[in-house]
Amino acid sequence: MHTDDELFFMRKPWVFDPNYKRPARPNDGQGFETKALHAGFRPSDSLERFRAFVPPLVPSMTYPYEHFDKIPYPVYGRTKTPTADLLEQRLAALEGGEAAVTAGSGSQALFNLIFTIARPGDNIVTTLNIFGEGYKQAASIFPERCGIHFRFVDDPADPQSWDKEIDSRTRLVWVETPSNPTLFVTDIKAIADVAHAHNVPLMVDNTTATAAVQKPMELGADIILLSITKFLAGNATVLGGAIVGPEALTEDIRWNTTEFVGAIMQPFDSWLTLQYLETLPLRMEKHNSNTQKVAEFLAAHPKVKRVNYPGLKTHPQYELASRQMNGGGGMMSFVVPGGIDSARTVMNAFELVIHAVTFGTSRTICMHPRTITHEHMTQPERDKAGIDDGLIRLSVGLENPNDIIADLDKALSKL
Ligand SMILES: Cc1ncc(COP(=O)(O)O)c(C=O)c1O
Repeated sequence: MHTDDELFFMRKPWVFDPNYKRPARPNDGQGFETKALHAGFRPSDSLERFRAFVPPLVPSMTYPYEHFDKIPYPVYGRTKTPTADLLEQRLAALEGGEAAVTAGSGSQALFNLIFTIARPGDNIVTTLNIFGEGYKQAASIFPERCGIHFRFVDDPADPQSWDKEIDSRTRLVWVETPSNPTLFVTDIKAIADVAHAHNVPLMVDNTTATAAVQKPMELGADIILLSITKFLAGNATVLGGAIVGPEALTEDIRWNTTEFVGAIMQPFDSWLTLQYLETLPLRMEKHNSNTQKVAEFLAAHPKVKRVNYPGLKTHPQYELASRQMNGGGGMMSFVVPGGIDSARTVMNAFELVIHAVTFGTSRTICMHPRTITHEHMTQPERDKAGIDDGLIRLSVGLENPNDIIADLDKALSKL
């Protein structure tokens, strides 16, 4: 239960403190698989009248006052609900952060973060290796409507290139690694050092890897962006997102942005995600091994021009990926010669692989970034980011890998 003073404190704007040390958390000593099952909820936490083995699903959007002077917390659904509160604790434990604040989607979580911490005239430093809706927020929505500018570094593999773009108005350095859709891998520790030398926080989008594969906070990241919609939920039944970081930041977002827009993660979606997270470590192991097999098959296929997967020795940042990731993850992309026409031919020929937007699902999905997610980038920007007209993104699912490979082989034979 929070006091009035605490609630007042939480409405203060967050200021990055380079000397901030995360306080110890109850699940700190446990392994990742244990946290995925236990963080945030013990059956003994449940009320006497509603004893439960699983976390409760509480759809209530308001919470009764005990008496006139005591504000309940949560107080109203626009800021927090009890089931989302459990999910936030579990996500924070998995990422190794102090606290989390959920949002209606990953894109919303990014929007909420930027809207909360940046002011007109400020800037944010990132690269072109970011997801499509993130690029749109950075390239047009925030600059045109809020006067917040984004700088896309010239060479994301070179820490000096990042250093050059940061100035006294930089509020955030934003890295997406491995990136969607080209699987570019950024050196988290090196970029954390650069950002911190300027007294600026580093945010890492950990959506494609998840904390089961990569722990950016252990490498120096201050803030984590998550789309829950992808691997965390794992089968396209939930739309959700989160920011993990210092509690002073997550509560600034909650009380100064979420409170007004009400873009929360609904209780049922939060509850579903708590169930799905229990199997995240298991699922990611299978995504890793299936994707490795599929990537190796495609890399040896004569009709394939290029394969992007951090688990392949031919990946330009293979050494770095082996150091900072525990497996290559469940997403990859490949280029077929012949541009959009060839991509269309292959994708129309799939029988098992499903053509759909999103990734991280238990079923294998393909998508064409040039026409679907990165259509707003200029052609020179797409060239720089490696978004070839023939690029096909593949989110490798949990099927028998031989069946996925057989479907790919058959579709590629149409070229
Ligand atoms: C890397 C990454 N981060 C965040 C998001 C946004 O997530 P959502 O679709 O939940 O808004 C996406 C969506 O594609 C993504 O690919």
